[in-house]
Parts: sequence; structure tokens; C-alpha cells
Amino acid sequence: MTVDRYELSPGYSISRLIHGGWQFSSGHRLTQSGLNDAVDVLEASAELGVTTFDCADIYTGVEELYGRFLRRWASSSNDAPIQIHTKFVPDWSDLPKVDRAYVTRIIDRSLARLGVERLDLVQYYWWRDEVPGFEEAAVWLDDLRKQGKIRHVAVTNLDVPRLRRLDQAGVSPLTNQVQYSLLDRRPAGALTTRCSESVMRILGFGALAGGFLTDRWLRQPEPEGYANRSLVKYRLIIDEFGGWQAFQNLLETMRDIASRRGVETSAVAIRWVLDQPGVAAVISGGTRLGQMARNAAAFDFEFSDEDREALRTHVDRAPGPSGDVFELERDRDGPHGRIMKYDLNRD
Ligand SMILES: NC(=O)c1ccc[n+]([C@@H]2O[C@H](COP(=O)([O-])OP(=O)(O)OC[C@H]3O[C@@H](n4cnc5c(N)ncnc54)[C@H](OP(=O)(O)O)[C@@H]3O)[C@@H](O)[C@H]2O)c1
Repeated sequence: MTVDRYELSPGYSISRLIHGGWQFSSGHRLTQSGLNDAVDVLEASAELGVTTFDCADIYTGVEELYGRFLRRWASSSNDAPIQIHTKFVPDWSDLPKVDRAYVTRIIDRSLARLGVERLDLVQYYWWRDEVPGFEEAAVWLDDLRKQGKIRHVAVTNLDVPRLRRLDQAGVSPLTNQVQYSLLDRRPAGALTTRCSESVMRILGFGALAGGFLTDRWLRQPEPEGYANRSLVKYRLIIDEFGGWQAFQNLLETMRDIASRRGVETSAVAIRWVLDQPGVAAVISGGTRLGQMARNAAAFDFEFSDEDREALRTHVDRAPGPSGDVFELERDRDGPHGRIMKYDLNRD
């Protein structure tokens, strides 16, 4: 098995499967049973060829964890370059006071936590339209790129109207990290068109819906409680998709395809997102040894026309989630917004 790569810009290549780090943050809460040492899990991914890793300033403890991983990787016999993507997500309540010094402080903190001289890629998000500063903060971030502290400026969860505001400010994000899965096709509209007209590419998270789109949940009854924050979040997406039975019907079809290909359902989930236009890579969480290798089997097969048609039947039937990318989540009073945490960027 070879993990495919994608050249996002001349000389900057990432693995098309990215190991995500939110699940390692202290705010996420993991099911402890069978959990492996996090640095061992990251190292196993890199050895497979999953050399790109996603984290954030707001994933408590994860930049430091990645720093430990980078040091161990540098002292090992492996010489494959590693790419670390982090984020710049100023707190909701801090937005009125974000200035150039604030942006510089957060970026310097990420550099120190990771123990690197330059950040490979920083994904920007601004919570509040009513607070001025969205464009200015992006420009200050871009100035840090020009100074050499950041290699590439990118964004997360931005729709096309907000990307146009960045165009006006002269900032061109290299990637946009958004939720994209068989359960959530919101990026398939305007954002995909935007990719076809610009250098920007999609990095998709949620391909496994926090683990729901894996064999683990096949033929399982609807749960009453959830072991971690991902499951709470993606359960709401399942509701938008049409509910538990619609989700189980999709899983059965995915399992059937997976059986014929000799892979796990998770690989089918990832293959589907990788095949969507505009998608450079899928970001997948993995907290246990073996998971990423099973997910990377997505690179071992192609869908037949019948496979695609069988999957399309389910997704075309789904009533939602609808609207633009992150539209449901931006509504702080709605079910998706109410479960989010807005002030995680504390020291
Ligand atoms: N920009 C944003 O707003 C945003 C939001 C969410 C996530 N992200 C990024 O995307 C990354 C991935 O998060 P996600 O929400 O997309 O998670 P995901 O990849 O949909 O799900 C990850 C979870 O699925 C389970 N899993 C993985 N492989 C499996 C396998 N082969 N068999 C069974 N279960 C498997 C694991 O659960 P267990 O740990 O329980 O084993 C894992 O923690 C995050 O770490 C983060 O970097 C970004």
C-alpha cells in the first residue's frame, strides 16, 4: 500500500491522508480502553506514509504532543519530511481585542510548542461577523508568512462569501479545511466550484463521522449516551442526514462494498471523500495503533460505477445537512452551535 501525495504548491507536498489531532486534546475525552501511547500512534502513521498531521492552537496539549513526536522522529532513522498543519482560531471573546501583537503572540506560541522555526501551514478562522477585524487579522497572519514564520496561510470552515472578503484583502488561502463525508456533502456546491477556479483545495474532516462511519457501528442500536465530543457532534449530522435508520442503511451498503474490496468500511468512507473534486486530502483521527493502516487501505482500490451508484442512492435521498459549509455550526443557538466551545485559546 502506498499513501498518495498531493502537491499543494510547488515544493509543498502532503499525504492525501492526514492524521488529525483533535482526538488527543484534553477537551475531547477518549474511550480509554485499548488506547495506545499517542506518540507511538503518530509515529506509526508517519511510517505508513501518512506524513502530514493536523492540529490547532485550540486543541489543548496537541501542539506540544506533536513537538514531542517531531523530536522523536528527528532522532530516529526515518528521514521522511513531516508536515504539521496548525490553526489560528482566536477566542470568541477575544475578537474585539485582536491586533497584530495578538496574532504574532499566538503564532510564536505555536512555533515554541512545536519546537520549529517555521509553521508549515496555518488555518485561520474568525467566529464573529459583527466584530470587525476578520480581514485585518488575515493580513497580519499573511505578514508573518512574508516574514518567514509561516510557510502557507490557509483557512478552515469558510464559505465562498467569506473567502471573497479575503480576496479583497489580498490574502489567498492555500487550503480550506471543512467537514466532508458521505453524510455531509455541503462542500460539493460553491466551495468546489471555487476550487476549480483557484489554487485553493479542500482538506476534508469528518470522513468517518468521528468513528460512526466504521465497522464499529454497523447494526448497532441507537446509543443513549456518547463516549466523546466527536460522537455528540456527528450524531447531529446523522440526524440531518435522515436519522439512525438512514445511517444504518448507508453503512450496510458501505460494508458490502468494503467486503468485496477486502477492506474496512472506514476505507470506503475515506475513498469516497478523496474522489470528490477539489479535495486534496482527508483528515482522519486515529487514537489506536492499526486504525490508520486500515484507513489507508483507501489507497488500495477504486470504486466501480456500481459502487458509486449504490452510495449515491443513499446520499441523494438524504434531506441534509443543508446550507453552506459551517452554516449550521455558526448558529450559536442552534443544536450544532450549542455544543461547541468558543474560548479554547487560553495559555
Ligand atoms: N476544522 C474543524 O472544525 C475540525 C473539526 C473536527 C475535526 N477536525 C480535524 O479533523 C481530525 C479528524 O477528526 P474527525 O472529526 O474528522 O474524526 P474522524 O476521522 O471522522 O473520526 C476519528 C475517530 O474514528 C475512530 N476510528 C478511526 N479509524 C478507525 C477504524 N479504522 N476503525 C474504527 N474506528 C476508527 C477513532 O475513534 P476512537 O478514538 O474512539 O477509537 C477516531 O478517533 C481532527 O483530529 C482534527 O484535526 C477539524
